[in-house]
Amino acid sequence: MGLISKRVKSIKPSPTLSLTEKAGVLKKAGKDVISLGVGEPDFDTPKHIRDAAKAAMDNGETRYTAVSGTMELREAICDKFKRDNDIDYDPSEVVVGTGGKQILYNAFMATLDPEDEVIIPAPYWVSYPDMVQLAEGKSVMVECPAENNFKLTPEDLEAAITDKTKWVILNSPSNPTGAAYTHDEMKALTDVLMKYPHVHVMSDDIYEHLVYEDFEFVTPAQVEPELKDRTLTINGVSKSYAMTGWRIGYAAGPKDLIKAMSKIQGQSTSNPSSISQAAAVEALNGPQDFLDDWREEFEERRDLVLSMLDKIDGIECVKPEGAFYVFASCEDVIGKVTPSGKTIESDEDFATYLLEDKNVSVVHGEAFGLSPFFRISYALSKEDLTKACDRIREAVEELKPAPANDLKQQFTRRPKRGGPGM
Ligand SMILES: Cc1ncc(COP(=O)(O)O)c(C=O)c1O
Repeated sequence: MGLISKRVKSIKPSPTLSLTEKAGVLKKAGKDVISLGVGEPDFDTPKHIRDAAKAAMDNGETRYTAVSGTMELREAICDKFKRDNDIDYDPSEVVVGTGGKQILYNAFMATLDPEDEVIIPAPYWVSYPDMVQLAEGKSVMVECPAENNFKLTPEDLEAAITDKTKWVILNSPSNPTGAAYTHDEMKALTDVLMKYPHVHVMSDDIYEHLVYEDFEFVTPAQVEPELKDRTLTINGVSKSYAMTGWRIGYAAGPKDLIKAMSKIQGQSTSNPSSISQAAAVEALNGPQDFLDDWREEFEERRDLVLSMLDKIDGIECVKPEGAFYVFASCEDVIGKVTPSGKTIESDEDFATYLLEDKNVSVVHGEAFGLSPFFRISYALSKEDLTKACDRIREAVEELKPAPANDLKQQFTRRPKRGGPGM
């Protein structure tokens, strides 16, 4: 009998984390690696938020809080939902956890029984399928190709629903594609869901504030108030407020679900850090104007990356509405041969080639359930982004044509399970 459980053996190590590690090893060895794999803003947490944390420490807010979060923070969250999304929640319908990740994990652990199905549009954030697996549920992937701008269509959603469907996950703007649903697109999905009262909606809105141009963010319970009773609206301060290290995520939903999630939290981690909670109160209640500057900066970076990738013969991109990712197709390089004689057979091979030959770290599409693509994070300075895109162009230009038995013919786009990760 081995020490490690079957449960743990059933999940893969994080593809994004192992890539970060590999890039770290090369950096340590003195290589000038540019990491386009990062999943966090490069800005500092704003000063007024840091000051609130310092004040909390000095005021003795250093003890256990209520498991589901302080009343002050849950009230600030209710105010945020009213202000930004026009949804009325009561603090008893809110739970605060150690990052959006713990909220999602608790939600699955609190609701999934073996064989319960979770519809996951692919490409997806790497952790969803593994969290479902840990909770002994069953992931049902629905491919959302580039032709659909990586969005779930109402037809595909309806076709995936069975008697066993417990949840559908929507993540808008999305990691890894940046795709976000317009009001009409979301309404078309909620119209389908209205027909299936046994299906619940998990809306991961963690990138809510990172939308560009005039795009208007919407969330399912706002677009279809009648769905509110079976929707868990998830959000957090990590991405929007540059607070990834503070570990505060939250969700609002039906009271019995929130109670069940709090019960799991109460027997595992208890409350999230009291100091981080105080900082999150300031993030939500304090000034919001800096978000416009950040949005502007991210939009410029997105446009820079898109314009540079657009000039590379062999790389195709869909313009993302939000988040800080571009999910680029590398279909046209499949089958080509690197200067050292290796054939690029998959998006993973392409990512490895970029890292080993050009010192650029990206995450391959297969990790997110859709190939042949690679994800670029543009949460980096414009200078580094320019350098990285130049290196990608050189890498593609240096590839030699495919030999006669063209591998591209054999390569079909297919959603695949990725591992857990960031
Ligand atoms: C789509 C998505 N949801 C949730 C999370 C979790 O965020 P947190 O850092 O708050 O746990 C991430 C982080 O990468 C994410 O990309």
